[in-house]
Amino acid sequence: MKTIIEPFRIKSVEPIKMSTRSAREFYLQAAHYNPFLIYAKDVIIDLLTDSGTGAMSSEQWAGIMRGDESYAGSVSFQRFESTIKDIMGFEYVIPTHQGRAAERILFSILCKDGDVIPNNTHFDTTRANIEFRGAEARDIVIDEGMNPSTDHPFKGNMNIQKLKDTVNSVGRDRIPLIMLTITNNSGGGQPVSMENIREVSNFARSVEIPFYLDACRFAENAYFIKIREEGYKDKTVRAIVEEMFSYADGCTMSAKKDGIANIGGFLCSNNPDLAQREKDLLILTEGFPTYGGLAGRDLEAIAIGLVEVMDEDYLKYRITSTGYLGENLLKLGIPIVQPPGGHAIYIDAKMMLPHIPPNQYPGWALACEMYLEGGIRSVEIGSVMFGKHDFEQKKDVVHAPMELVRLAIPRRTYTQSQIDYVIESMENLIKRKDKIHGMKITYQPKFLRHFSSHFEFLP
Ligand code: F0G
Repeated sequence: MKTIIEPFRIKSVEPIKMSTRSAREFYLQAAHYNPFLIYAKDVIIDLLTDSGTGAMSSEQWAGIMRGDESYAGSVSFQRFESTIKDIMGFEYVIPTHQGRAAERILFSILCKDGDVIPNNTHFDTTRANIEFRGAEARDIVIDEGMNPSTDHPFKGNMNIQKLKDTVNSVGRDRIPLIMLTITNNSGGGQPVSMENIREVSNFARSVEIPFYLDACRFAENAYFIKIREEGYKDKTVRAIVEEMFSYADGCTMSAKKDGIANIGGFLCSNNPDLAQREKDLLILTEGFPTYGGLAGRDLEAIAIGLVEVMDEDYLKYRITSTGYLGENLLKLGIPIVQPPGGHAIYIDAKMMLPHIPPNQYPGWALACEMYLEGGIRSVEIGSVMFGKHDFEQKKDVVHAPMELVRLAIPRRTYTQSQIDYVIESMENLIKRKDKIHGMKITYQPKFLRHFSSHFEFLP
């Protein structure tokens, strides 16, 4: 069969409120032209994130009912811990309320002023948690990963030579860990090959630096390995996942992605002393080590989701349906990061809106226009998210290398006709792209400015 269907039936639905363009003009203005500040009820198709927005299965909802809410040593924690140990093979599993809490604990313990953390590309919260400790988050993805239109099967790979150069020039004592983000979210949702994971791991071991995976989308990464990397097509996703994790000394995870849960995360390692220090810190802010800021029911939903996400029918549908959106945007002449990623399509706003310079935030402008056009919410991954502002000079001193707008697809949530609606909206929008104006920031905080800055369209 050429047609690949959603491999699930819908059992429970949530209404979408339709809106007019003039209503959306009002909502966007009230949100200070920041899509993060729009009420979700005023959004028609919400592609802001694939994080915590997926639909849970009937099994997960059954797990919710089974949740053991004991403060210490709950059965739900045992199930959570043994599932993760079984799939990922780590000795110590520490639950956290979401991925960034795992990051904060890990970097608070391992990083000091002046350290450098190499990664293919740090996600924004990862970068912020590292910088908050006074360390540097250094992105060293392969060159192909920096060019949206280059085709390469594993654009999330790390540049091994640059990694070696970094360790040589910085010194291994100032590199507390090396990370790989699978898939590479900020670099276009692109996968990392098994070969690259193995090479980074071998090198890390040779210089005795711990190697961590930011494992948010581990199952999608494994499926790409299965279909794109030589020698893996006959292996199960489960076996590929196990091999990927066998190379790492630990991981951070947001279960809101490939845990298909609405909340949750965890931190794993094989080092008993480190795990003890992490648990001590966990108790201070997250909770006792057998719940870590989560309810027992959440631990159940995650344990079930982590297994469901490796279902190959699901992954085939997931990767194909994301590709469907990407290919249709390409047919309209909309430049996207190629090839399509696993969880999202990234529009190259720099190329689509060449008349808007980086200091007028082309990606942000496009995200606002998509909301006005069809009530579609997306997110800029460009110079608002990654630019650096000098508050004394009152201007941005660093712009992002790419100006992307991410259309993230929540798991098992939207049907193909809803995605067709997105495509038709983009078809309408592209006709007036030359008339889209740049933007300016009218208020911004010191950290993670994209979440709460205020904007205006320039005249
Ligand atoms: N690492 C990666 C690669 C991520 O994509 C995210 C979150 C995190 C860490 C942090 O996890 O949200 O549970 O604290 N990404 C979301 C996104 C927010 O929209 O891509 P969290």
